Amino acid sequence: MASSILTDKIFKMKKFVLNKKLEENSMENKKRIVTGDRPTGRLHIGHYFGSLKKRVELQNSGEYEQYILIADVQALTDNFNNPEKVRKNVRELAIDYLSCGIDPEKTTIYIQSMIPEVAELTVYYSNLVTIARLQRNPTVKTEIAQKRDLFGESVTYGFLGYPVSQAADITALQGELIPVGEDQLPLIEQCREIVRKFNSIYGEVLKEPKEVLSKEKRIKGLDGNEKMGKSLGNAIYLSDSDEEISKKVMSALTDPSRIKKDDKGNPDVCMVSYYHKLFTNEADQKTVCDECRAGARGCVACKKQLIKNICDELKPIKEKRAYYETHPEIVENILQEGTKKAQESAKEVMKKVKEAMMLNYFDKN
Ligand code: TRP
Repeated sequence: MASSILTDKIFKMKKFVLNKKLEENSMENKKRIVTGDRPTGRLHIGHYFGSLKKRVELQNSGEYEQYILIADVQALTDNFNNPEKVRKNVRELAIDYLSCGIDPEKTTIYIQSMIPEVAELTVYYSNLVTIARLQRNPTVKTEIAQKRDLFGESVTYGFLGYPVSQAADITALQGELIPVGEDQLPLIEQCREIVRKFNSIYGEVLKEPKEVLSKEKRIKGLDGNEKMGKSLGNAIYLSDSDEEISKKVMSALTDPSRIKKDDKGNPDVCMVSYYHKLFTNEADQKTVCDECRAGARGCVACKKQLIKNICDELKPIKEKRAYYETHPEIVENILQEGTKKAQESAKEVMKKVKEAMMLNYFDKN
């Protein structure tokens, strides 16, 4: 009898250990996602539809191990003269993530500058990239042209080199899948080139990352501009109050040839109709369009309906935001824990890199 209880116990223990191992293995088999944003301002609905929703989806699929970095070092490359702005927005960004459904139990959020290995790797990778190659990078090229006010005729070494630092972000965490918008493709390509060059000289140490392109198109601004952005003053922020949302939608671009309420309108050139596609269910959307085309509904009524739908969709996000704003210690703790986890991962990679580059002077054997 006693021995059968013992056998039973041993059997259960074995099963427990086996399950634990299976769990660990499945963790190991999960592909790692690395992505992030520069902390330079609050997030708007363009970010929400363009990247945040996708990240929450990837997180909840359970198929990946996701790391999101708050890229403060990268933000400083064009905000070096405004450290307060960067610092303030690190917390804002973390709150935006958490409010939109990023769950710290499933996704690791961390601060880039707190991973010294990223700076270290950037130095070593700098030898593997030519200045001409960086100057040819289309993303960097466009950005330098846009930042004439800041850089004048000669861009800083730090800004020109930020793709190298981004390659360090990705490889320090052994990122395999990188969900980004189209504008980031040249940066991922540059990272792959660095990885190949590193591996061909020092040995196979680094993983080549692949981009995951978000299917969502870039969200247009309230004024019809192709891009929604802070500097363009045409954005609806996730943290906007209902009054602000109402004011903004009321001023949105509508069909300019529709003057009187019963004129027949063209929803294809109307930003209100464009946002209805994002916030309104299909049946209502169709009614809105049909009535606009027939001249049966005025723009004000149409805008009011949109305002309500936007406010409804953002309500839970704003409620969560209010919670985290009044509990800063929770946000702090999430960032600290996430950063610790990322640090451990970066240390492992750094060890291998140093070995491969023969820089492991004080290692035993
Ligand atoms: N360059 C990205 C942006 O501006 C932010 C970023 C920094 C990033 N490091 C990264 C994105 C690593 C993906 C992977 O949005």
